[in-house]
Amino acid sequence: MKVRASAPSNIALIKYMGKVASSGNKPTNPSISYTLDHLITQVELEKIDGSEDRWEPLKEQGFGDIELSEKGRAKFLTHFALLKKEMNGHGSWLIRSANNFPSDCGLASSASSFAALTRAAAAAFKPGFDEKTLSKLSRKGSGSSCRSFFTPWAVWEDEGARAADVPYSGLLHAAVIVHAGVKEVSSSDAHVRVATSPKFEGRPERAEQRLRELVSAMRESDWASSYKLIKAEFEDMHQLFESSAEPFRYRNKKSQAVVDACQHIWNFKNDGPWVTMDAGPNVHLLYRPDQLELAEKMVKHFRDSHVVMTSWSGLK
Ligand code: DP6
Repeated sequence: MKVRASAPSNIALIKYMGKVASSGNKPTNPSISYTLDHLITQVELEKIDGSEDRWEPLKEQGFGDIELSEKGRAKFLTHFALLKKEMNGHGSWLIRSANNFPSDCGLASSASSFAALTRAAAAAFKPGFDEKTLSKLSRKGSGSSCRSFFTPWAVWEDEGARAADVPYSGLLHAAVIVHAGVKEVSSSDAHVRVATSPKFEGRPERAEQRLRELVSAMRESDWASSYKLIKAEFEDMHQLFESSAEPFRYRNKKSQAVVDACQHIWNFKNDGPWVTMDAGPNVHLLYRPDQLELAEKMVKHFRDSHVVMTSWSGLK
């Protein structure tokens, strides 16, 4: 028996950073994300003889090979064990997965991977589960994956995510890959370490307030105020990393140069892309569909020094 499922990635504009201890990835603050429908993980489950589940890369045209670290593999298999338990699944399974984007391009695949695995398990064991239930289950594997069940916008507070009513859609996404190597501090570790920063005091309230302000700015189609809030948010998160008891940083000079170049465009035109960064050095840009010309110009410029992956013209 074989089943398949896929799920997209997402980029948070108000970030999930900090977890309630021993809660199965319940966040200390609500978050909101835009779903990246072009960045997809495909998972195939095949029932096998034997006493344990295994993982291997899925060979699929148009999909790159994933290399999972020992830790990454263990986290994936542990989540599958939990899904089997919650869905009354039985037997041993071979899990195969692949991303439609290169694994070495510095884009996180944990959201799409865990959401796709959760969907595949439901296809095998519990086809009747709705997306809300799947979102809650997926959260237990990797928090940010719970937002990948809804598109184009998802809000997540507490147990699982739901679709958010925001008027922007069809946004153009560009990821400027300033560094594609493996991170020294995983996002799971970052969640623990931020709590040691003196700036973590008041962080849940700050994030919640910013989320409220961002949703209302977006509902008023106020792109410029949204840009300011989104920028303040990722800077807040990175300051937590950099001021934790054992400080660590993901931002480097190249990331800062990309962020500054975007600010320069904003200063000049009073318009530009939304800019955000996750727990890594790469910079994510979102443009409205009517900004395509600007997006192409900026991407061409960034491609002089970096790989840029876009939702409209792929990876270069
Ligand atoms: C910075 O979902 O990767 O991307 O729950 O430990 O698997 P775990 O963490 P993860 O954290 C992602 C954090 C972030 C911000 C976000 O996506 O909201």
